[in-house]
Amino acid sequence: MDVYEAVKSRRAVRKFTDQAIPKEVLERVLSAAAWSPSGSNIQPWNTYVVTGAPLAELKRRAGKRVVAHGPWDEREYEMYPRELKTPYRERRSAFGHERYSALGIADGDWEAAQRAASANWDCFGAPAALFCYIDRDLGLPQWADVGMYLQTIMLLLRGEGLHSCTQMAWSVYRKTVAEILSPREGLILFCGMSIGHEDVKEPYIHTGRASLNETVTFVDSISQPLAQPAHDDALLGV
Ligand SMILES: Cc1cc2nc3c(=O)[nH]c(=O)nc-3n(C[C@H](O)[C@H](O)[C@H](O)COP(=O)(O)O)c2cc1C
Repeated sequence: MDVYEAVKSRRAVRKFTDQAIPKEVLERVLSAAAWSPSGSNIQPWNTYVVTGAPLAELKRRAGKRVVAHGPWDEREYEMYPRELKTPYRERRSAFGHERYSALGIADGDWEAAQRAASANWDCFGAPAALFCYIDRDLGLPQWADVGMYLQTIMLLLRGEGLHSCTQMAWSVYRKTVAEILSPREGLILFCGMSIGHEDVKEPYIHTGRASLNETVTFVDSISQPLAQPAHDDALLGV
């Protein structure tokens, strides 16, 4: 599959068929994704792949928590700042509108939206999931490395005819995830990722994107005096 096609056909799929994914396919994807870049090549990702009975048990335990309406696990990182400023706030609400109106849920119907969102903890029916952890003492650049790695996985999955949905939602049930995976000490669960074949019967609205001139600035001519450098560049060693 052409790279552009992989990028453009990737989207967060939120309903999967139960068709199993051969382990060789997952191994192939994860072996290739290991070639993702990272600062100083430290490869800060720690990935657990779950299928079969352990995944069924994870879904069962998470489902029990959803039904019980108990508290979420205390946060190890904030998903978003408490006050999301413009333009992010507007983009987030546009996403919510797209996501839920595709399912016939009216804006403001919080209960119906919550019911739909609870499919997160069934991995949207997917037969495979991965959980990506990062060491607690690593910093922002390493979190960015993990993001690149996850995107590489998602694009390679497209090359295998598969779809995915990255899920920070799992971080709120991180203790339940840990019961199944027994991750080593010192790790924070960043997110899960459901993996499988798309159930094409599920309606969706393709999420939009900001126009290029909102997010990209080309600097290709000198139209005003340049600021003087504040200090000499140092060797970074990255
Ligand atoms: C780090 C990350 C975490 C996400 N967490 C969730 C999640 O918990 N549940 C969910 O349904 N979608 C989740 N998504 C999917 C985003 O909502 C989706 O990528 C975004 O709306 C853009 O839509 P698209 O991926 O279909 O292009 C997540 C995406 C990313 C990159």
